[in-house]
Amino acid sequence: MARKRLVLKDPGRFSDPAGLTWERYVAMQARERERYMAERAAISQDALNYKTVSPQYLERAVDQFANNYYSELSATHYVATAAANAPFDELKKCALFQLADEQRHLEMDREVFERAGIPERDWLAAWEAPGTTCRFFRHLLELEDTIEILVKGNFVAEGAAGPGTFTVLADGAEARGDVLSAINHRARIRDETRHISYGRVLVKALIDDDPGNLDTIQEWQDESLRLFAEVARGGERRAWWEGFLASYYKIALPLGLRPSF
Ligand SMILES: [Fe+2]
Ligand SMILES: [Fe+2]
Repeated sequence: MARKRLVLKDPGRFSDPAGLTWERYVAMQARERERYMAERAAISQDALNYKTVSPQYLERAVDQFANNYYSELSATHYVATAAANAPFDELKKCALFQLADEQRHLEMDREVFERAGIPERDWLAAWEAPGTTCRFFRHLLELEDTIEILVKGNFVAEGAAGPGTFTVLADGAEARGDVLSAINHRARIRDETRHISYGRVLVKALIDDDPGNLDTIQEWQDESLRLFAEVARGGERRAWWEGFLASYYKIALPLGLRPSF
């Protein structure tokens, strides 16, 4: 069955809510970097090298590290596809800035794995194990249509994994002595919030353009959340899953979407 495609007939309905230009983007990221480097400089060498966390923490955290690292790695691929196939320039611009953000997140997550001393040969197995977000991201990597990628990746996935869950992750890591993960999650929140915002503007534009688009967006939401649901199975990540759905529904329901479960 051919995949459904949505077209924004009037691209004028979409404009970058962050109002970024290359100039502004570079200046903003330079400020972000300064802030990040200052936070990082305040971490002791022992903490930075994972000498202050328990061995049990590290054993259990490998799954989380893989979830972070591979979802960012996936994002550098699917957002690149979204940019390459973008139907109009304003959307392409947003995707290109996002691509640079995701690359930065990817490098932060690689550093966590390396400093924690986890051999690279173990990373992929942790990602492919049951109960990770792997299934969802592998699905996104198969897509080619910009609008479908951004609705599923930015609006649904980032809308869900946005501010709420990164805060849970940051606080949880910090409480266990993993300060590097904590500052990484907090640094990422600001970019992810921007990715969600333009995903939201895109969904709104699609619905305003043709209210009939809502049905397809609902299908894409259901499909995406089903692929994520397995992460919550077993109950271990209950707090994460609750925060995940709550974040997403907060932006989705006001646009006329219904809960998937
Ligand atoms: Fe990211
Ligand atoms: Fe993102």
